Amino acid sequence: MSTIELDQLVADSVDLPPPALSSPATLAQALAGRRSGRAFRPDTLPLAVLSSLLWSAYGINRRASGGRTAPSAHNWQEIDVYAVLPDGAYRYDAVAHRLLLVAAEDLRGATGSQDFVASAPLNLVYAADFARMQEASPEERTFLAGADAGCIAQNVYLFCAGAGLATVVRGLIDRDRLARALGLSKAQRVALAQSVGYPQSD
Ligand SMILES: Cc1cc2nc3c(=O)[nH]c(=O)nc-3n(C[C@H](O)[C@H](O)[C@H](O)COP(=O)(O)O)c2cc1C
Repeated sequence: MSTIELDQLVADSVDLPPPALSSPATLAQALAGRRSGRAFRPDTLPLAVLSSLLWSAYGINRRASGGRTAPSAHNWQEIDVYAVLPDGAYRYDAVAHRLLLVAAEDLRGATGSQDFVASAPLNLVYAADFARMQEASPEERTFLAGADAGCIAQNVYLFCAGAGLATVVRGLIDRDRLARALGLSKAQRVALAQSVGYPQSD
């Protein structure tokens, strides 16, 4: 399973293999290597890498309480992570550690307004569900959802730095277009996107 390339998979539901919890890089090495990269080789990510990446981003790290690898204001857990891949877009179901198909087409170009996003092997999208933030004022919802998405993005930066992957978090997004493409509900707002892939060597 872990050697199957992602572009061979277009299924309603993709069970991810267990994440690898031992990293060859120390936290200090990952922090030292963290940077933004915008040039990606076209190679798809192995399913095992995607599994560990998504778990690092926002997976369940405390099964009993449902706690996640990234904090969230009031523990609202209002961010949904979407994985936009060449053959389809999926929502990450952290509880079951699986991907759920939301669109069986290549939506990578809709995830941002910069040229590289259309060919990046993976674009993550962080969408906040304001329906889970009922107690917050409209202004608080926007600030806190942005902060929560930023915590997830940093997890991805550190994972990528440790795994030899390039990544860049992105705010330059046509949010209405992307929300339509992903079929988001009226209560969902795109906070950030993040491109990931193997770095293009010079
Ligand atoms: C909230 C946020 C939004 C960003 N939006 C974009 C973006 O839309 N496009 C882009 O290429 N980089 C984007 N970046 C990446 C920054 O340009 C980058 O972090 C900055 O230049 C510092 O470089 P470094 O990450 O290598 O330290 C964003 C970063 C943050 C934190």
